[in-house]
Amino acid sequence: MDIDQFISKWERSAGSEQGNSQTYLGELCEVLEVEKPRPTTGDPARDAYVFERGVDYLDDDGARRRWGRIDLYKRDCFVLESKQGRRADDGTLPGERQARPGMDAVLERARAQAKQYIAALDRSIAPPPPFIIICDVGATFDLYAEFTRTGGEYTPYPDARAKRIRLGDLRDPDNLDLLRTVWTDPAQLDPSRQTAQATRALAGRLAELSRELEADHSPDSVADFLMRCLFTMFVEDVGLLPGSGFTGLLASLQDRPPEVFVRAVEELWRAMKTGGWSASLLDTVLHFNGPLFANPTALPLTPAQAGALLEAAEADWQNVDPAIFGSLLERALDPRERHKLGAHYTPRAYVERLIEPTVIAPLRAEWEAAQAAAYAQSDPARAVELLRRFHQRLCTVRVLDPACGSGNFLYVTLEGLKRLENDVVAAREQYGDHERGLTEIGTVGPAQLLGLEVNPRAAAIASLVVWIGYLQWHRRTYGAASPPEPVLDGDRYIDCRDAVLTWRERRIRLENGQPVTRWDGHTTIKHPTTGLDVPDENARELVYDYLDPQPAEWPQADYVVGNPPFMGIAMMRAAFGDGYTEALRAAYPDVADSTDLVMYWWHKAAGLLREGRIRRFGFITTNSIAQTFSRRVVAAALAGEPPVSLAFAIPDHPWVDAAEGAAVRIAMTVAQEGHREGTLATVTAEEKHADGDEARAVTFERVEGVINADLTVGVDVTGIVALQSNRDLANRGVCLFGDGFIVTPELAAELGLGTVPGIEQHIRNYRNGKDITDTSRGVLVIDLFGLTAEQVRDRYPAVYQHVVEYVKPRRDHNARKVRRENWWLFGETNPKLREMLAGLPRYIATPETAKHRFFVFLDESILPDNMLVNIALDDAYYLGVLSSRWHVTWALASGGTLEDRPRYTKTRCFDPFPFPAADEGQRGVIRELAERLHGHRVAAQAAGVTLTQQYNALAR
Ligand SMILES: C[S@@+](CC[C@H](N)C(=O)[O-])C[C@H]1O[C@@H](n2cnc3c(N)ncnc32)[C@H](O)[C@@H]1O
Repeated sequence: MDIDQFISKWERSAGSEQGNSQTYLGELCEVLEVEKPRPTTGDPARDAYVFERGVDYLDDDGARRRWGRIDLYKRDCFVLESKQGRRADDGTLPGERQARPGMDAVLERARAQAKQYIAALDRSIAPPPPFIIICDVGATFDLYAEFTRTGGEYTPYPDARAKRIRLGDLRDPDNLDLLRTVWTDPAQLDPSRQTAQATRALAGRLAELSRELEADHSPDSVADFLMRCLFTMFVEDVGLLPGSGFTGLLASLQDRPPEVFVRAVEELWRAMKTGGWSASLLDTVLHFNGPLFANPTALPLTPAQAGALLEAAEADWQNVDPAIFGSLLERALDPRERHKLGAHYTPRAYVERLIEPTVIAPLRAEWEAAQAAAYAQSDPARAVELLRRFHQRLCTVRVLDPACGSGNFLYVTLEGLKRLENDVVAAREQYGDHERGLTEIGTVGPAQLLGLEVNPRAAAIASLVVWIGYLQWHRRTYGAASPPEPVLDGDRYIDCRDAVLTWRERRIRLENGQPVTRWDGHTTIKHPTTGLDVPDENARELVYDYLDPQPAEWPQADYVVGNPPFMGIAMMRAAFGDGYTEALRAAYPDVADSTDLVMYWWHKAAGLLREGRIRRFGFITTNSIAQTFSRRVVAAALAGEPPVSLAFAIPDHPWVDAAEGAAVRIAMTVAQEGHREGTLATVTAEEKHADGDEARAVTFERVEGVINADLTVGVDVTGIVALQSNRDLANRGVCLFGDGFIVTPELAAELGLGTVPGIEQHIRNYRNGKDITDTSRGVLVIDLFGLTAEQVRDRYPAVYQHVVEYVKPRRDHNARKVRRENWWLFGETNPKLREMLAGLPRYIATPETAKHRFFVFLDESILPDNMLVNIALDDAYYLGVLSSRWHVTWALASGGTLEDRPRYTKTRCFDPFPFPAADEGQRGVIRELAERLHGHRVAAQAAGVTLTQQYNALAR
């Protein structure tokens, strides 16, 4: 059967869905030259391409299970639902039928049904397919896609207006090809894959050009100039510059003197600023406006540089993916960041994963309600009014990213809003209500996307990224028609300022009338004697005090979304200085001191939600949000009055596969007002993308329920409290703040161990978590606790000299005075632990962070490192209880995780743990078993099998 026969046969059909659908689709496969569906076996694992694939699904209200059949299923490709309208009231046959609201409501229901079927498919067999096809037999195919395959929303493909392929359209080979690809290799159609590679190549080219220009100009002027150039290249490639455009101009200037180049390019940019005649292009240009052209300065280029610029202009800029382009451009234009051009940025799939539940899902729910209300109207004018009202509302929604970087979240949000707008416009068009030149209701645009960002370069790029995204969309929707002028409105929607803190004045800190400075935190030089990297004394920064610090105000918005910086307290001091860190704490007295920086954004957004000033917010944070310190911010919001609840959470999600990102774990949380249920998505599998994409392919299990502050659904262990009976039994080890304290046995002997009397109390065996889990390093540590510097110098001069050379240089720059002044002592000497362990021949220890949770006995001679949690008990009965499955399960639930490993937190796992009330007989049995466990493990270690290997074997 050829395509013409197929079309003429089916456009006259008018049978029922069941009667015709399978024959129709079978013949379609012939026309597409793809395999036909196979016979059904009834085994879901084997039924990869069948008609009538059975599914057990939950109905709309989630209350009842139902049995359904997918009309046609192809694993990894699509779920197809078919409908066939009978002969229409007006007598038209399907092939002649134009879109009618009534039929569209039927097809819309079929789409909802397909979504329910997909949600019910077994994900251990395959992730959700990327396409839904809704087939009106003999009339149309509507395509919907969700390429991340994570159970997200299927949106019209490629957009709401072009999603429909009519039967007659199949005469166009491009449409046949498209359907064939949906049948055979739909991943190819993922637009982000198609453009990502091209975008990376273009950013690489800009980085080279930027490096080249910096030979003669300052990096800032190069960055400004290149941003104007690339915007001009972009508008040229989307058809907004007349004639031969910027590329033509650059080509004509190749052999001209640099000053001619400058004059011609500046003239063009001045014309773009105001609109009107451009002498350089010999044509009229649109009125572009915007801060980008406020300063039209062009750089005088050498012939080689002008050649490189022309080459960049000749590339195709119209399909750059703004979701990643901004991050790449930020690095390309910054000499210090350029080496990271290949490094990671928030992958687009992750950005979409957060934006969907934060912004798009609630708006879509509103849209579905508006649409249902419109379809229910018998008066078309009233239906149009309801659709228009929603459209108007969509055009006024504002979304804020208060740490917007180069604008990737804002751009992806714009794209989501635009897709939804396309649905709305398509629905209005069904009623004959055509948008007239975007003037009546307006359109979703950049003014709705607000950003805050401290880095001026990133803020400027963010603005550019949003406009580029908007103009791309305009081009895709309206073709060559020019957008309204000015093309860029003159307002700034991205504000370059601090998003969490404001202050009345910033003053240089003085001591004895002199400015206080600090080491800049990163510049090092080689130590003349040891050859080690030590801080460079001369690389200094001023220390500031911030007067009258206050939380910063955010611009009014409906939704807040973003990926604010993660930074622990120690890093914050190093990165921003003591003054800023102290000011932040003073401005936010309700946020606990050790809270990660990102949680200040969370706290602030939660406050706005409670005041009813925003509708939802969603942030990417570290996965430590579910752990003790950061969790307090979430717990306070959930327990507050009025309360806030989590609408969506992923507690533990991978970051990227790039070398330095692989171990980082993130969380996503979306909050809404009120005490309501949400969706908890737990990652059940993750794998690298075969095509080198940095985003991991992730599979989720979703549970509905009230989400607790520790990002669990179910029993809430966040309220557990420390028990008196466990008080002063557990403590972390010492924290050195100076690797120079650690010595090998050989060096210890040189320093006097074994020869100098009394020194054995000060050079002791030392173990950290890795020494316990893997092969021990066998190192010792210089522990001068209880001695003054003078006593050390007099009694152990060699040790003194060693500490002066290997510890003091770093400690001199420690942010805390007490650590600078007591440089010969550990940063945390932990007298409490010493007191607790005194007199015990052995004690119990467990690594704070480890893949397997086990407890061991350590000999009294060993000083534990701070990554070991130590329990001052020598009775094997306790070792037995702690090693029991009961305690390990408790510890996993109540403790946290670091990166991808569970963490045993003293305050959460030990202090509140209720030891069983065992009688003497039971204690005896447990004690005996624990001694055997201890002996067995020690013997295996002596034979070279590490504890991790022993527990890996058990886990198999
Ligand atoms: C993790 S990045 C996220 C950027 C971008 N959305 C992304 O995914 O790559 C955090 C951004 O917050 C900015 N930032 C850091 N501290 C800030 C502050 N106090 N106020 C506003 N922005 C800040 C940084 O400059 C950076 O661009």
